[in-house]
Amino acid sequence: MHNATDRALTGLGLAAALLLALPAVPAVASADLAAKKMCMGCHRVDERRNGPSFRDIARRYAGQPDAVATLSRKVITGGHGAWGRVPMPANPQVSEAEARQIVQWILTHR
Ligand code: HEC
Repeated sequence: MHNATDRALTGLGLAAALLLALPAVPAVASADLAAKKMCMGCHRVDERRNGPSFRDIARRYAGQPDAVATLSRKVITGGHGAWGRVPMPANPQVSEAEARQIVQWILTHR
């Protein structure tokens, strides 16, 4: 009985470790999340709308190690001045983890 429980728990631990070890977030899930969180109301992958295109953003921040942290913060709190005079309003509907996931996905569009 104990053994079965132990084995089950070990299996769970392994599954969790594997999930944590996954290097990248799945693109489809991230695109869905961006849509669900209303990002696509102002952004497109390839076209400038109210906000800059995700490709332009990815190109600008390519190779900047702190880009995910900086941009996730800006997504949540909003901000202006990086791309022109139109500000991005705050997006309090997005958690920190969600913001990081969407930003990581945005930055893949080089
Ligand atoms: C109401 C329109 C609007 C919505 C909704 C919106 N954005 Fe933006 N976004 C903008 C504008 C405008 C800018 C340019 C701001 C600037 O010039 O600093 C921007 C800039 C950005 C940037 C680049 C910031 C920088 O400093 O270079 C990222 C990343 C971004 N948005 C992600 C998101 C994500 C993720 C969401 C959804 C949670 C989202 N945006 C929702 C309008 C919007």
